[in-house]
Amino acid sequence: MNVWLTWRVAMEQALYGENGFYLRERPSGHFRTSVGASPVFAEAVLRRLVAVDDALGNPPVVDLVDVGAGEGELAAGVLAAAPPGLRERLRVTGVDLASRPLSLPAEIRWEHAVPGGIRGLVIANEWLDNVPLDVAEQTADGPRLVLVDPASGAERLGDSPCDADLAWLARWWPMHSPGERAEIGRPRDEAWASVIVRLAAGEAVAVDYAHFLAGRPPYGTLTGYRDGSLVPPVPDGSCDITAHVALDACAAAGERAGRAGARDAGAEANGGAGGVGGVVTTLTTQRRALLDLGVTGTRPPVELAHTDPRGYLQALTRASQEAELIATGGLGDFGWLVQSRL
Ligand SMILES: C[S@@+](CC[C@H](N)C(=O)[O-])C[C@H]1O[C@@H](n2cnc3c(N)ncnc32)[C@H](O)[C@@H]1O
Repeated sequence: MNVWLTWRVAMEQALYGENGFYLRERPSGHFRTSVGASPVFAEAVLRRLVAVDDALGNPPVVDLVDVGAGEGELAAGVLAAAPPGLRERLRVTGVDLASRPLSLPAEIRWEHAVPGGIRGLVIANEWLDNVPLDVAEQTADGPRLVLVDPASGAERLGDSPCDADLAWLARWWPMHSPGERAEIGRPRDEAWASVIVRLAAGEAVAVDYAHFLAGRPPYGTLTGYRDGSLVPPVPDGSCDITAHVALDACAAAGERAGRAGARDAGAEANGGAGGVGGVVTTLTTQRRALLDLGVTGTRPPVELAHTDPRGYLQALTRASQEAELIATGGLGDFGWLVQSRL
């Protein structure tokens, strides 16, 4: 007998419910992210952290908070590479619903929710695409929720989405013809806003597969991954279930959260008179963001092969790792949402 759930509920159970995929599995066994691709990514994040630390005036404690930290590899990589002078002031926190990885260095805190009062850098690499969300399909009578049977992945149509979801669809993912599908990104907007309200000062960066209002995929992006391969997205707990992120909608939610935070802080500081400002947003690609951080994929001069063969090989390896992270048509196309409160 089929059991019909909304996609949001089905994803929640499959990924984070009892014995859910992410509570049971090591993500790196199933797919590769920029973090696992090479240490170059952690070095680039460190460069961003150093810039934020400088902008904050090198405070006695500076935070690095890795949201959706998975196996903690990025947090550990940044900590290991941090120069003396920063390292002793650095407070590194990994945040994940999964339990603390066994091999994580003792200095790294591990939390199941984003802490408050962050001063420093928040990084969320491939977190938002795993935040569960509902799917809607356009019919002659307007959008209807898509229901799924978690055991088989079979689908059927349910009720109309709630008013808040209809408003989100109208603003961020309007559908035009019957049969088109949209992934209702409201839970991702809320997840991201919940990070921004916890950013007291510094910068928050979300890196993910992204799409934007001008080019939403008409039939959605729900995908499954298992053992390194794409599989049908059956939410039975046997595979990762992911959907690309409407990063422009998250940016707008972050700005709203930033303005509200600034108003509250200003009101407190001004005896209720209100404040100004909020967060400054940059939406760009990983390629652009990493090029700006000096990750260029430039190959070493071939003469080096004669004078220093070992150094040449090392530089060549590094150049190919950098090239993978900025490749057009690959990781370089990922979206970077940067929101700063500096
Ligand atoms: C695709 S993995 C990314 C891991 C790592 N950031 C990387 O880039 O390799 C997504 C992670 O987000 C975590 N996650 C999902 N929702 C979360 C939430 N609400 N709070 C904390 N972690 C969450 C999952 O448990 C999973 O470990």
